[in-house]
Amino acid sequence: MFPSHRPRRLRTTPALRRLVAETTVRPQHLVLPMFVKEGATEPVAISSMPGVYQHTMDSLRKAAVEAVQAGVGGIMLFGVPATRDATGSGSVDPDGILNAALRELRAELGDSTVLMSDCCLDEFTDHGHCGVLAPDGSVDNDATLTVYGEMAIAQAKAGAHLVGPSGMMDGQVGFIREALDGAGLTDTGILAYTVKYASALYGPFREAVESQLVGDRKTYQQDPANLRESLRELALDLAEGADLVMVKPALPYLDVLSEIAKNSDVPVAAYQISGEYAMVEAAAANGWIDRDRTVLEMLTSIRRAGADIVLTYWATEAAQWLDRG
Ligand code: PBG
Repeated sequence: MFPSHRPRRLRTTPALRRLVAETTVRPQHLVLPMFVKEGATEPVAISSMPGVYQHTMDSLRKAAVEAVQAGVGGIMLFGVPATRDATGSGSVDPDGILNAALRELRAELGDSTVLMSDCCLDEFTDHGHCGVLAPDGSVDNDATLTVYGEMAIAQAKAGAHLVGPSGMMDGQVGFIREALDGAGLTDTGILAYTVKYASALYGPFREAVESQLVGDRKTYQQDPANLRESLRELALDLAEGADLVMVKPALPYLDVLSEIAKNSDVPVAAYQISGEYAMVEAAAANGWIDRDRTVLEMLTSIRRAGADIVLTYWATEAAQWLDRG
Protein backbone atom coordinates (compact mmCIF):
# COMPACT_ATOMS: atom_id res chain seq x y z
CA MET A 1 0.00 0.00 0.00
CA PHE A 2 1.53 3.32 -1.12
CA PRO A 3 0.17 6.56 0.35
CA SER A 4 -2.63 8.05 -1.70
CA HIS A 5 -2.23 11.41 0.01
CA ARG A 6 1.11 13.02 -0.73
CA PRO A 7 1.59 16.44 0.92
CA ARG A 8 5.09 16.51 -0.55
CA ARG A 9 3.56 17.17 -3.98
CA LEU A 10 3.03 20.83 -3.10
CA ARG A 11 6.65 21.14 -2.01
CA THR A 12 8.15 19.94 -5.26
CA THR A 13 9.32 23.20 -6.86
CA PRO A 14 10.07 26.72 -5.62
CA ALA A 15 7.18 28.00 -7.72
CA LEU A 16 4.72 25.58 -6.11
CA ARG A 17 5.99 26.42 -2.67
CA ARG A 18 5.60 30.11 -3.39
CA LEU A 19 2.09 29.59 -4.75
CA VAL A 20 0.87 27.87 -1.60
CA ALA A 21 2.75 29.93 1.01
CA GLU A 22 0.23 31.07 3.63
CA THR A 23 2.42 33.71 5.22
CA THR A 24 4.33 36.53 3.61
CA VAL A 25 6.92 38.95 4.90
CA ARG A 26 7.14 42.14 2.90
CA PRO A 27 9.29 45.23 3.50
CA GLN A 28 6.19 47.23 4.44
CA HIS A 29 5.60 44.92 7.41
CA LEU A 30 8.96 45.80 8.98
CA VAL A 31 9.78 48.69 11.29
CA LEU A 32 13.36 49.69 12.04
CA PRO A 33 14.22 50.72 15.62
CA MET A 34 17.03 53.30 15.66
CA PHE A 35 19.16 54.97 18.33
CA VAL A 36 20.42 58.55 18.25
CA LYS A 37 23.07 59.74 20.69
CA GLU A 38 23.25 63.32 21.88
CA GLY A 39 26.56 64.99 21.11
CA ALA A 40 27.97 62.05 19.14
CA THR A 41 30.38 63.07 16.38
CA GLU A 42 30.82 59.53 15.02
CA PRO A 43 28.35 56.62 15.01
CA VAL A 44 29.11 54.40 18.02
CA ALA A 45 28.96 50.64 17.48
CA ILE A 46 26.89 48.71 20.05
CA SER A 47 29.08 45.74 20.93
CA SER A 48 26.25 43.39 21.90
CA MET A 49 24.34 44.23 18.70
CA PRO A 50 26.80 43.89 15.81
CA GLY A 51 25.73 46.11 12.92
CA VAL A 52 23.57 48.42 15.10
CA TYR A 53 24.78 51.92 16.03
CA GLN A 54 24.13 54.82 18.30
CA HIS A 55 23.76 57.35 15.51
CA THR A 56 24.85 60.92 15.18
CA MET A 57 22.14 63.20 13.81
CA ASP A 58 23.83 62.94 10.43
CA SER A 59 24.25 59.16 10.32
CA LEU A 60 20.68 58.79 11.63
CA ARG A 61 19.35 60.79 8.71
CA LYS A 62 21.32 58.72 6.21
CA ALA A 63 20.35 55.37 7.72
CA ALA A 64 16.71 56.46 7.89
CA VAL A 65 16.72 57.45 4.22
CA GLU A 66 18.28 54.09 3.37
CA ALA A 67 15.57 52.28 5.33
CA VAL A 68 12.81 54.21 3.58
CA GLN A 69 14.38 53.51 0.19
CA ALA A 70 14.42 49.82 1.08
CA GLY A 71 10.67 50.11 1.61
CA VAL A 72 10.39 49.56 5.35
CA GLY A 73 7.02 50.38 6.88
CA GLY A 74 8.31 52.72 9.56
CA ILE A 75 10.99 53.83 11.99
CA MET A 76 10.92 53.64 15.79
CA LEU A 77 13.25 56.15 17.37
CA PHE A 78 15.06 55.99 20.73
CA GLY A 79 17.18 58.80 22.17
CA VAL A 80 20.39 58.48 24.17
CA PRO A 81 20.79 61.72 26.13
CA ALA A 82 24.12 63.16 27.29
CA THR A 83 22.81 63.85 30.79
CA ARG A 84 20.10 62.26 32.91
CA ASP A 85 18.16 63.27 36.00
CA ALA A 86 15.62 61.82 38.44
CA THR A 87 12.56 62.86 36.44
CA GLY A 88 13.97 62.34 32.96
CA SER A 89 13.44 65.98 32.06
CA GLY A 90 15.30 65.58 28.75
CA SER A 91 12.29 63.67 27.47
CA VAL A 92 9.90 66.62 27.62
CA ASP A 93 12.41 69.25 26.47
CA PRO A 94 11.59 70.18 22.85
CA ASP A 95 15.35 70.35 22.25
CA GLY A 96 16.02 67.03 24.01
CA ILE A 97 17.79 64.53 21.77
CA LEU A 98 14.77 62.42 20.91
CA ASN A 99 12.55 65.39 20.07
CA ALA A 100 15.31 67.11 18.11
CA ALA A 101 15.92 63.92 16.11
CA LEU A 102 12.20 63.48 15.42
CA ARG A 103 12.10 67.01 14.02
CA GLU A 104 15.12 66.30 11.86
CA LEU A 105 13.69 63.05 10.47
CA ARG A 106 10.24 64.47 9.86
CA ALA A 107 11.78 67.38 7.97
CA GLU A 108 13.84 64.94 5.90
CA LEU A 109 11.21 62.27 5.32
CA GLY A 110 7.87 64.05 5.58
CA ASP A 111 5.05 61.53 5.34
CA SER A 112 7.05 59.06 3.21
CA THR A 113 7.32 56.75 6.21
CA VAL A 114 5.69 56.33 9.61
CA LEU A 115 7.76 57.93 12.35
CA MET A 116 7.35 56.40 15.79
CA SER A 117 8.92 57.42 19.07
CA ASP A 118 9.58 55.64 22.33
CA CYS A 119 7.39 57.38 24.89
CA CYS A 120 9.16 56.18 28.02
CA LEU A 121 11.46 57.58 30.67
CA ASP A 122 14.11 54.89 31.11
CA GLU A 123 16.53 56.40 28.61
CA PHE A 124 16.29 59.76 30.37
CA THR A 125 16.35 58.94 34.09
CA ASP A 126 19.51 58.68 36.17
CA HIS A 127 18.07 55.60 37.94
CA GLY A 128 17.07 53.92 34.68
CA HIS A 129 13.46 53.14 35.61
CA CYS A 130 10.64 53.72 33.14
CA GLY A 131 8.94 56.16 35.49
CA VAL A 132 9.57 58.65 38.26
CA LEU A 133 10.20 57.32 41.74
CA ALA A 134 8.18 57.78 44.92
CA PRO A 135 10.10 58.67 48.11
CA ASP A 136 10.28 54.96 49.04
CA GLY A 137 12.05 54.18 45.74
CA SER A 138 9.10 52.46 44.06
CA VAL A 139 7.97 53.54 40.59
CA ASP A 140 5.13 56.04 41.03
CA ASN A 141 2.52 55.09 38.42
CA ASP A 142 0.33 58.18 38.46
CA ALA A 143 3.12 60.75 38.75
CA THR A 144 4.72 59.04 35.75
CA LEU A 145 1.56 59.40 33.67
CA THR A 146 1.78 63.17 33.96
CA VAL A 147 5.27 63.10 32.46
CA TYR A 148 4.22 60.64 29.72
CA GLY A 149 1.44 63.04 28.72
CA GLU A 150 3.89 65.92 28.32
CA MET A 151 6.37 63.68 26.52
CA ALA A 152 3.74 62.50 24.06
CA ILE A 153 2.79 66.10 23.26
CA ALA A 154 6.45 67.05 22.75
CA GLN A 155 7.02 64.05 20.47
CA ALA A 156 3.88 64.70 18.45
CA LYS A 157 4.83 68.34 17.99
CA ALA A 158 8.33 67.25 16.96
CA GLY A 159 6.90 65.09 14.18
CA ALA A 160 6.05 61.62 15.48
CA HIS A 161 3.13 60.05 13.62
CA LEU A 162 2.76 57.46 16.38
CA VAL A 163 3.92 57.61 19.99
CA GLY A 164 4.91 54.32 21.60
CA PRO A 165 4.37 54.16 25.36
CA SER A 166 6.61 51.28 26.49
CA GLY A 167 6.72 51.85 30.24
CA MET A 168 3.86 49.53 31.28
CA MET A 169 2.27 52.07 33.60
CA ASP A 170 -1.42 51.45 34.27
CA GLY A 171 -3.61 53.85 32.34
CA GLN A 172 -0.82 55.14 30.11
CA VAL A 173 -2.73 54.83 26.85
CA GLY A 174 -5.83 56.64 28.10
CA PHE A 175 -3.80 59.34 29.78
CA ILE A 176 -1.70 59.98 26.68
CA ARG A 177 -4.78 59.98 24.43
CA GLU A 178 -6.38 62.65 26.59
CA ALA A 179 -3.20 64.70 26.71
CA LEU A 180 -2.78 64.60 22.93
CA ASP A 181 -6.43 65.43 22.29
CA GLY A 182 -6.29 68.24 24.84
CA ALA A 183 -3.40 69.75 22.88
CA GLY A 184 -5.32 69.43 19.61
CA LEU A 185 -3.07 66.59 18.42
CA THR A 186 -5.95 64.33 17.50
CA ASP A 187 -4.19 62.84 14.45
CA THR A 188 -1.22 61.50 16.40
CA GLY A 189 -1.73 57.80 17.02
CA ILE A 190 -0.71 55.51 19.86
CA LEU A 191 1.25 52.32 19.25
CA ALA A 192 0.71 50.76 22.66
CA TYR A 193 3.24 48.40 24.14
CA THR A 194 0.28 46.44 25.40
CA VAL A 195 1.99 43.20 26.32
CA LYS A 196 5.52 43.62 27.58
CA TYR A 197 7.23 40.96 29.59
CA ALA A 198 10.03 41.45 32.12
CA SER A 199 12.52 39.70 29.82
CA ALA A 200 16.19 38.90 30.22
CA LEU A 201 16.50 39.52 26.50
CA TYR A 202 16.48 43.32 26.81
CA GLY A 203 20.14 43.18 27.88
CA PRO A 204 21.74 44.48 24.67
CA PHE A 205 19.18 47.31 24.46
CA ARG A 206 20.33 48.52 27.85
CA GLU A 207 23.83 48.87 26.41
CA ALA A 208 22.36 50.64 23.38
CA VAL A 209 20.69 53.33 25.49
CA GLU A 210 23.37 53.34 28.22
CA SER A 211 20.71 52.40 30.76
CA GLN A 212 21.50 53.28 34.35
CA LEU A 213 19.17 50.61 35.71
CA VAL A 214 20.21 48.55 38.71
CA GLY A 215 17.77 45.76 39.47
CA ASP A 216 14.79 44.88 37.31
CA ARG A 217 11.40 46.04 36.05
CA LYS A 218 9.33 43.22 37.54
CA THR A 219 6.92 45.55 39.37
CA TYR A 220 5.66 46.96 36.08
CA GLN A 221 6.57 44.57 33.25
CA GLN A 222 4.71 41.26 33.05
CA ASP A 223 5.68 37.90 34.47
CA PRO A 224 6.72 35.50 31.65
CA ALA A 225 4.59 32.84 33.35
CA ASN A 226 1.33 34.63 32.56
CA LEU A 227 -0.87 34.64 29.47
CA ARG A 228 -4.31 35.62 30.81
CA GLU A 229 -2.89 38.87 32.08
CA SER A 230 -1.99 39.82 28.51
CA LEU A 231 -5.62 39.59 27.46
CA ARG A 232 -6.50 41.92 30.33
CA GLU A 233 -3.84 44.39 29.20
CA LEU A 234 -5.25 44.16 25.67
CA ALA A 235 -8.81 44.89 26.79
CA LEU A 236 -7.63 47.89 28.79
CA ASP A 237 -5.49 49.36 25.99
CA LEU A 238 -8.28 48.95 23.43
CA ALA A 239 -10.74 50.60 25.80
CA GLU A 240 -8.28 53.43 26.40
CA GLY A 241 -7.93 54.11 22.69
CA ALA A 242 -4.81 52.31 21.43
CA ASP A 243 -4.54 52.60 17.64
CA LEU A 244 -2.17 49.64 17.39
CA VAL A 245 -1.09 47.13 20.02
CA MET A 246 2.25 45.44 20.44
CA VAL A 247 3.63 42.26 21.95
CA LYS A 248 7.20 42.13 23.18
CA PRO A 249 9.52 40.19 23.05
CA ALA A 250 8.43 38.25 19.96
CA LEU A 251 9.87 34.76 19.52
CA PRO A 252 9.56 33.41 23.08
CA TYR A 253 5.98 34.75 23.22
CA LEU A 254 4.44 33.55 19.96
CA ASP A 255 1.63 31.87 21.90
CA VAL A 256 0.79 35.22 23.50
CA LEU A 257 1.05 36.99 20.16
CA SER A 258 -1.35 34.51 18.61
CA GLU A 259 -3.94 35.09 21.35
CA ILE A 260 -3.58 38.84 21.08
CA ALA A 261 -3.96 38.71 17.30
CA LYS A 262 -7.17 36.68 17.68
CA ASN A 263 -8.65 39.09 20.18
CA SER A 264 -7.54 42.48 18.88
CA ASP A 265 -9.65 44.66 16.62
CA VAL A 266 -6.70 46.96 15.83
CA PRO A 267 -3.45 46.09 14.01
CA VAL A 268 -0.95 44.02 16.00
CA ALA A 269 2.80 44.57 16.11
CA ALA A 270 5.50 42.37 17.61
CA TYR A 271 8.95 43.55 18.68
CA GLN A 272 11.82 41.22 17.87
CA ILE A 273 14.04 42.64 20.58
CA SER A 274 17.72 43.23 21.09
CA GLY A 275 18.44 39.86 22.74
CA GLU A 276 16.73 38.00 19.90
CA TYR A 277 18.96 39.91 17.51
CA ALA A 278 22.11 39.32 19.55
CA MET A 279 21.58 35.56 19.84
CA VAL A 280 21.29 35.12 16.09
CA GLU A 281 24.23 37.41 15.36
CA ALA A 282 26.43 35.61 17.89
CA ALA A 283 25.57 32.14 16.63
CA ALA A 284 26.05 33.24 13.02
CA ALA A 285 29.40 34.85 13.82
CA ASN A 286 30.51 31.45 15.09
CA GLY A 287 29.36 29.79 11.89
CA TRP A 288 26.76 27.79 13.80
CA ILE A 289 23.69 28.92 11.88
CA ASP A 290 22.90 30.48 8.51
CA ARG A 291 22.16 34.05 9.56
CA ASP A 292 19.99 35.24 6.69
CA ARG A 293 17.84 32.12 6.57
CA THR A 294 17.42 32.22 10.34
CA VAL A 295 16.32 35.84 10.25
CA LEU A 296 13.73 35.19 7.54
CA GLU A 297 12.46 32.08 9.31
CA MET A 298 11.97 34.01 12.53
CA LEU A 299 10.26 36.92 10.78
CA THR A 300 7.97 34.47 9.00
CA SER A 301 7.13 32.75 12.29
CA ILE A 302 6.27 36.07 13.94
CA ARG A 303 4.01 36.97 11.03
CA ARG A 304 2.44 33.47 11.03
CA ALA A 305 1.65 33.82 14.73
CA GLY A 306 -0.40 36.89 13.89
CA ALA A 307 1.76 40.01 13.75
CA ASP A 308 0.77 42.50 11.08
CA ILE A 309 3.92 44.50 11.82
CA VAL A 310 7.34 43.40 13.08
CA LEU A 311 9.85 45.73 14.71
CA THR A 312 13.28 44.33 13.91
CA TYR A 313 16.84 45.58 13.86
CA TRP A 314 17.24 43.70 10.57
CA ALA A 315 14.45 45.73 8.91
CA THR A 316 16.52 47.50 6.25
CA GLU A 317 18.59 44.48 5.35
CA ALA A 318 15.65 42.08 5.34
CA ALA A 319 13.64 44.53 3.21
CA GLN A 320 16.50 44.56 0.71
CA TRP A 321 16.61 40.73 0.50
CA LEU A 322 12.84 40.51 0.23
CA ASP A 323 12.79 43.01 -2.58
CA ARG A 324 15.25 40.88 -4.52
CA GLY A 325 12.76 38.02 -4.04
C1 PBG B 1 11.82 50.89 27.31
C2 PBG B 1 12.15 49.95 26.21
C3 PBG B 1 12.96 48.84 26.27
C4 PBG B 1 12.99 48.29 25.00
C5 PBG B 1 12.19 49.08 24.19
N1 PBG B 1 11.64 50.10 24.97
C6 PBG B 1 13.81 48.31 27.37
C7 PBG B 1 13.24 47.82 28.61
O1 PBG B 1 12.02 47.74 28.80
O2 PBG B 1 14.05 47.54 29.47
C8 PBG B 1 13.76 47.07 24.62
C9 PBG B 1 13.95 46.84 23.17
C10 PBG B 1 14.96 45.80 22.88
O3 PBG B 1 15.44 45.08 23.76
O4 PBG B 1 15.29 45.67 21.69
N2 PBG B 1 11.92 52.22 26.89
